[in-house]
Amino acid sequence: MKPAGRKIIGGGGSTGGLSILGILVFIFVFAMFIYGEDIRAIANLSFFSSSESAELKKESGKENKPSPQPPPPPPPPAVAERLVLSQPETCDIFVGEWVLDNQSRPLYKEASCPFLSSQVTCMMNGREDDTYQKWRWQPRGCYLPEFNGRLLLERLRGKRLMFVGDSLNRNQWESMVCLLYSAVPDGEKSHACNASLIIYRIKEYNATVEFYWAPFLVESNSDDPLAHSITDRIIMADSIEKHSQHWKGVDYLVFNTYIWWMNTAKMKVLRGSFDEGSKVYDEIERVTAYERVLRTWARWVEANVDSEKTSVFFNSMSPLHIRPVDWGNPGGIKCSKEKLPILDRIGPINVGTDWRMHVVATNLTRSVRGPTVGFLDITGLSEYRKDAHTSVHTIRQGKILSPEQKAEPLVYADCIHWCLPGLPDTWNELLYARIVSSPWRG
Ligand SMILES: *[C@@H]1O[C@H](CO)[C@@H](O)[C@H](O)[C@H]1NC(C)=O
Ligand SMILES: *[C@@H]1O[C@H](CO)[C@@H](O)[C@H](O)[C@H]1NC(C)=O
Ligand SMILES: *[C@@H]1O[C@H](CO)[C@@H](O)[C@H](O)[C@H]1NC(C)=O
Ligand SMILES: *[C@@H]1O[C@H](CO)[C@@H](O)[C@H](O)[C@H]1NC(C)=O
Ligand SMILES: *[C@@H]1O[C@H](CO)[C@@H](O)[C@H](O)[C@H]1NC(C)=O
Repeated sequence: MKPAGRKIIGGGGSTGGLSILGILVFIFVFAMFIYGEDIRAIANLSFFSSSESAELKKESGKENKPSPQPPPPPPPPAVAERLVLSQPETCDIFVGEWVLDNQSRPLYKEASCPFLSSQVTCMMNGREDDTYQKWRWQPRGCYLPEFNGRLLLERLRGKRLMFVGDSLNRNQWESMVCLLYSAVPDGEKSHACNASLIIYRIKEYNATVEFYWAPFLVESNSDDPLAHSITDRIIMADSIEKHSQHWKGVDYLVFNTYIWWMNTAKMKVLRGSFDEGSKVYDEIERVTAYERVLRTWARWVEANVDSEKTSVFFNSMSPLHIRPVDWGNPGGIKCSKEKLPILDRIGPINVGTDWRMHVVATNLTRSVRGPTVGFLDITGLSEYRKDAHTSVHTIRQGKILSPEQKAEPLVYADCIHWCLPGLPDTWNELLYARIVSSPWRG
């Protein structure tokens, strides 16, 4: 059996005193667990969709309404001017459209980034079409700056950028590592905190890009970075210190939490604490519990983040594509047959996203006093990308799906995570736009 998570540790490797055998065993075990998440266990799909939710989406204004005659975007500025965001104040960079652009996309090649896990290398896992790599997000009314790895690394010199959350944030972290690796190929990867924390270090800039596993942000029974395929989830809604101690002093923090909430309509919230052996919990409606958790998180940000030093971002929900009727393809099987984004759609898209959680997240990120939290509103633009999931071109229990498994997309297609290069690169371009357009911090 080949270890599936190839090249978990790359470059020089700062693995301390571990023997080679130890490293190999570790890589193998890590790959088996981290990348062997049972997709069905992450989100119980029977709880998706509500018409109430679609209404909220309209209210939130994030619906990309197809206007009869969209105003033409301004002419593309010269490359030098596109280093920073044009019209950052007036332009909502999250509203726009997908444009096929095989000149400038993808931003890196799947085969040339040694840090991609086999969970996301769709072409290597047998996907034949590659158009999904060639779409560029075009905001309505302005242009995103060109992603420039060295420019971002100047911002990150001697600093730490950390993604905190679930496997979707890890997806985005892998993308960021590859975007930077293609600019400066001298990085190395290591693990700390018994794999809750993965660190990618760019030596030339003394910068790190890190991923911290905390699928609910607060303490939960799903916090083990290795064995966390837990269907019966319990959280401690007011307890964040166990994780947040690892975020203190980080210069750029990017949070997310969503998919782990989607298993059940109600969330189990522990009374007391795991440490005291408490087993008593209340079952609280998902959105109510989500609000409580984000309130805990927001209060932590207020009390612990130095706004002079640290920039905080919150990613909105990453959507799923599991019901082909949602996009008018009754012959589809989950996302497995999709080669193009949802295009030319008249009327709203409803792929079952819980937009009530979007409302809560918008409200609470705005409510933070002191540090400004950048709300990265990736949900609407990602809903178009039914073509961009890993589907059957991924791994399960550490192994690439067998031909027999690939032939059963209804069971095995992963319509939660995304191929790389792909959609998470766009999330990072949006994050990039926010970072390089913000005032310089010493
Ligand atoms: C998903 O939800 C349904 C109820 O609609 C339940 O019967 C089923 O056991 C759940 N599956 C898991 C894996 O939680
Ligand atoms: C890019 O797309 C254009 C138009 O679809 C096509 O004619 C051209 O061959 C493509 N180029 C590459 C390199 O795929
Ligand atoms: C490297 O960066 C860390 C922060 O990540 C900082 O504490 C340290 O002083 C830096 N080292 C040098 C030599 O600049
Ligand atoms: C991993 O870290 C957590 C706290 O971050 C700790 O409770 C746990 O015992 C550690 N596990 C191992 C195997 O070291
Ligand atoms: C969000 O904020 C708006 C306006 O401040 C308020 O009307 C609404 O009730 C809030 N919703 C939630 C879920 O907090």
